[in-house]
Amino acid sequence: MPRIEVELASVPKDTPHRLEYNGMGIVVIRSGHNIHAYHDVCPHASWRLSDGEVVNGILECPGHGWQFDVTSSRYASVPAYCLKPVSITVLGEIVRLEWIEPVCVPVRSRSLHGEASA
Ligand code: FES
Repeated sequence: MPRIEVELASVPKDTPHRLEYNGMGIVVIRSGHNIHAYHDVCPHASWRLSDGEVVNGILECPGHGWQFDVTSSRYASVPAYCLKPVSITVLGEIVRLEWIEPVCVPVRSRSLHGEASA
C-alpha cells in the first residue's frame, strides 16, 4: 500500500497542498482542527484541485468552479459526485497518507501522428 508521511506543520491551513508520489498527486487540506486528503483530480474534467481555493470549508476547483465540501468530499450541487479519498492518520506531528490503489492521472491518447490529446 503506497504511503507518504509529512510533518503536520508543513501543511498550510485553508490552502490546498499538493503532494506527489511517483508523479501522481494528492491534495491535502487542513481546515480548522481537521485535515483531509483526496486524489488531486477533479471528477469533472480532471483539473488539479490543489490549484483551487478553500473558503469556509469548501474547496473550489480552478477548472470550472465546482465546489466540494472538504469534510464530506461531495460536490455541493450534485452530491453524487465526490472526491476520491486518501486515508489519513495524524500521529502527533506526523501525517500519514495511505491508499490502496494508485492515484489516477488523466490518460491522454495519442494520435497516429504522435500528438497528445485529452
Ligand atoms: S475540472 Fe473541476 S470543475 Fe471542471
